[in-house]
Amino acid sequence: MFSKKKPFNPETELEDLTGKVAFVTGANRGIGYQTVKHLSRKGATVYMGARSEEAGKAAVDALEKEGIGQGKVVYTWCDFATPEKARESGEKLLSQIERLDILVLNGALLADPRLKYVDEILQTNHFGNLKLLLTLLPLLEATSDKYGEARAVLVTSNAHTLSRAKDPSISFKSPEDFKRDFTSDGKIRAPFSYYSISKLCQLMTHVALHKRNTHPNLFFISIDPGVVNTFSHTYLITRLLSPIINLFFISPEAGSFNSLFAAASPKIREDKKTYDGKYMLPVGRVTPMGVNVTVERSEEMLDTSIACLEKEGMFPLLPRKEGDK
Ligand SMILES: NC(=O)c1ccc[n+]([C@@H]2O[C@H](COP(=O)([O-])OP(=O)(O)OC[C@H]3O[C@@H](n4cnc5c(N)ncnc54)[C@H](OP(=O)(O)O)[C@@H]3O)[C@@H](O)[C@H]2O)c1
Repeated sequence: MFSKKKPFNPETELEDLTGKVAFVTGANRGIGYQTVKHLSRKGATVYMGARSEEAGKAAVDALEKEGIGQGKVVYTWCDFATPEKARESGEKLLSQIERLDILVLNGALLADPRLKYVDEILQTNHFGNLKLLLTLLPLLEATSDKYGEARAVLVTSNAHTLSRAKDPSISFKSPEDFKRDFTSDGKIRAPFSYYSISKLCQLMTHVALHKRNTHPNLFFISIDPGVVNTFSHTYLITRLLSPIINLFFISPEAGSFNSLFAAASPKIREDKKTYDGKYMLPVGRVTPMGVNVTVERSEEMLDTSIACLEKEGMFPLLPRKEGDK
């Protein structure tokens, strides 16, 4: 009656990844950094995506000091602030690898009120990640066919059920739907409005691509990492308060466990029906997606988004003042 679930242990619960190639985006800090560490400790060659070469290489050094086990960690430039940069980043990675067993789309802009242009949250998290995923998809598919399996893991957020993303009238029928202006939500709320929609669109993308997937050994899994303290270093006040913050938030390492479960637990393969195409709360708890995430709406959203990637004048999503980029 009082049995307590054992905490997730990446050492014992992940399979041996020797010979496999993984790519984790936004991995120079936070949850992504920890994800790279544990994939590498299981023997994978892990490409660490970071938009800053300096930060990426410093993170590789830090990881090597912490211990990366039998694996290998390689820095690769990856910036998905614009679809163009995302394509370049994907092509750069493709020029370095011949297989891609595990893709973890982790990097994102969080709901940061310091951002000058909040529409960048939707542009980066949804459109940038979409372009990157579409660039890498053929190699994931080929790897799944040739080596028997590949996994596309998306780090989304429970925020896809909140704020503007829970509005039942939200629709993505035309490019104009992505150009709606939520800055009127105010300096504090607008970043979260954009963030929630970006995480909704990321999840819908995974749902639609899973529906269209014709490769039986390619998995699409989406996760929420939990409520993770990846921010207390940002301000002096939050640094001082971090002992209290840590009572309510989990560590970045614990925040990586759900990504790791999706990327490398043998249970995913053993029980494909339970996990493939699904959304999980930590760790490994398959959970219904928000009400807006139906297959039909997801496919419509994906088709509109792909059209947006090709559309001239689509980005930035909101107009800029003269002189601004
Ligand atoms: N923390 C939470 O409680 C929480 C909850 C739910 C979901 N999530 C999700 O978990 C994932 C990781 O979050 P986190 O808390 O670890 O965030 P974080 O500490 O802020 O790290 C975000 C990472 O994404 C990178 N990034 C941002 N914009 C980028 C761009 N244009 N191109 C390439 N990389 C970019 C950052 O690079 P720089 O260092 O260069 O900025 C950083 O490496 C995100 O998808 C987030 O939405 C987090």
